[in-house]
Amino acid sequence: MIEQARRIIAQAGRVVSFSGAGLSAESGIPTFRDAQTGGLWEKHDPMRLASPQGFAADPQLVSEWYAHRRRAIAEAQPNGAHLALSRRSNMIHVTQNVDDLLHRAGTEHVIQLHGTIAHDRCNGDCGFREAVDMTDPPALRSCPQCGDQLRPAVVWFGEALPSDAWEEAERVCSECEVLLVIGTSAAVYPAAGLIGLAKSAGAKIIIVNTQSSDASSLADVELLGKASEVVPALLDDPSTIS
Ligand code: APR
Repeated sequence: MIEQARRIIAQAGRVVSFSGAGLSAESGIPTFRDAQTGGLWEKHDPMRLASPQGFAADPQLVSEWYAHRRRAIAEAQPNGAHLALSRRSNMIHVTQNVDDLLHRAGTEHVIQLHGTIAHDRCNGDCGFREAVDMTDPPALRSCPQCGDQLRPAVVWFGEALPSDAWEEAERVCSECEVLLVIGTSAAVYPAAGLIGLAKSAGAKIIIVNTQSSDASSLADVELLGKASEVVPALLDDPSTIS
């Protein structure tokens, strides 16, 4: 299977990755709904911690939760899958992950569909936005521009995706020859719809996941295994592996 997938990638010019929480799981960042690893949303209520209503009801709780997640991400390191993706030049990465591990691995072109935890933005509509120190995250604070509250620049349940990121993702997924789908349950829309979009535009779909997912039926090749092992085996030139 891996040889078949390697051949498909070798013959393709435009390869795009589409990732989810499974890409960062081996860096120690929990997935959201992975039964095998006790997903984050099994232990915590997403409507309290990751929704506009939850933030309105208890901004302090949400702020503390994101400070905790930011510190955990700051302590995490990119794993073998992030690094293998970064070694392949000219590849575009569409991700649902809000962490910064693809950037820290050295990838250049990352489209973050669900925003980034590395920035805060104004909860109102003044447009203020700034990077935060992930190792020493700020407490709940006011927007210096308009006085509303600042919040993490991530997409919460019930919110629209950033339109620029979504439009770019739709374009690159409909133009790619191979979509490499890594570590996503493909259960959350509209993001998961990008796999069907790529497929119907003629792309080959290669899936890397520890188990079957909602996207399995779309796969040309499904590789069951850990991202940190399968992605380097798929992308690295065997002659360069020491
Ligand atoms: N290697 C490969 N795949 C893995 C690994 C691993 N080491 N560990 C877990 N997985 C797979 C799981 O089998 C599962 O299919 O990663 C997937 C994780 O799925 P989810 O937890 O649903 O994460 P994701 O698909 O990214 O969720 C999408 O939902 O809660 C929201 O906004 C959040 O961006 C997130 C979105």
